[in-house]
Amino acid sequence: MSAAPLPPLTEIPADLVAVEDYLRRAPLHLPAATWAWLDGGAADETTLAANLAAWRALELWPRAFARVAGGHTRVELFGDALAHPFVLAPVASQTLLHPDGEAATLLAAGVMGGAAVVASQSAVPLEILAARAHGPLWLQLYWQGRRDTTRIQVRRAEAAGCRALVLTADAPVAGVRNRAQRAGFVMPAAGGAAPVLPALTEAQSLVFDGYMAIAPDWDDIAWLADESRIPLLIKGILHPDDARRALDAGAAGIVVSNHGGRALDGAPSSVAALPGVVEAVGGRIPVLADGGIRRGADALKARALGADAVLIGRPYACALAVAGALGVAHLLRLLREELEIAMALTGHATLAEAGMHALRRS
Ligand SMILES: Cc1cc2nc3c(=O)[nH]c(=O)nc-3n(C[C@H](O)[C@H](O)[C@H](O)COP(=O)(O)O)c2cc1C
Repeated sequence: MSAAPLPPLTEIPADLVAVEDYLRRAPLHLPAATWAWLDGGAADETTLAANLAAWRALELWPRAFARVAGGHTRVELFGDALAHPFVLAPVASQTLLHPDGEAATLLAAGVMGGAAVVASQSAVPLEILAARAHGPLWLQLYWQGRRDTTRIQVRRAEAAGCRALVLTADAPVAGVRNRAQRAGFVMPAAGGAAPVLPALTEAQSLVFDGYMAIAPDWDDIAWLADESRIPLLIKGILHPDDARRALDAGAAGIVVSNHGGRALDGAPSSVAALPGVVEAVGGRIPVLADGGIRRGADALKARALGADAVLIGRPYACALAVAGALGVAHLLRLLREELEIAMALTGHATLAEAGMHALRRS
């Protein structure tokens, strides 16, 4: 039998100095099944592993005697000036990780001058979070099965002052989450918007006649982009043709993502997919990327490949479990400092200056 989870820390021990330390410590603070859900990926976790390995495999070119005094990590996205490019990715049901859940996450994001994406399956209602948010808030949306029900979520996001909508494209049906299944993880019925499935007969397929029967198509995405008064990002694009279609449909941004290896196992890593999407988009709208970002230097590598910002998921979710808002804020500070050091040692005063020249091509 495993020991009972430890309560969240109220101060940060001196040996928590990197994302890796939070990832190692988080399981001590969580039930085993919750940890399996948080840390795990889909099926054999090939894509999850590829995400991590691909950032590590990229080599940065150190440059000597560059003038970078007065530099900064700031980026501007959808009209907001952010202190750093680490956006907190949508992670569902965060009260499973810490009693304060999403409220703690947003407090930390705001204090550190960054943006955060609230999951549509948030444990705390959007309106309550928005009223207490300290920084730019984006709402992640799952298609609600129909245009009229989806419109309700769009209006809620606008009324709550969200700065962008993030429609998740890569999980109309959940991935094969074997690690969470083996650990007996069951998502508690929480608040948040979840689409209602049609009633099915025994002979029908839950995938094709259930989830995919209420999934959106490109016409729906064009409708949504038109309907929304705030910028619409599409999250979970890997194929360059889908990036082009998202542009045509009116998307204001793209998140290159494989859902942190939790959707289709065997999908390419975000690093592998990023250059193709960047080329297809041709600078017309911002491109963000997530999956496997574990070091501040990874944001510089992402920038070198053409990403305007990155999202992090598990790293801050683990920091939330370990030490609530304090942990998330500390983690963001660590990442920003690591990024500053990587920029300084590669001769970049700003992220805008970084391009392919920052990477050694093998
Ligand atoms: C526990 C967990 C829950 C997640 N929930 C959502 C979600 O509700 N909606 C969504 O679009 N992505 C969700 N994601 C995916 C993240 O937004 C993000 O794409 C991914 O975590 C990035 O990879 P990383 O964890 O390696 O940083 C979730 C990820 C995790 C780990």
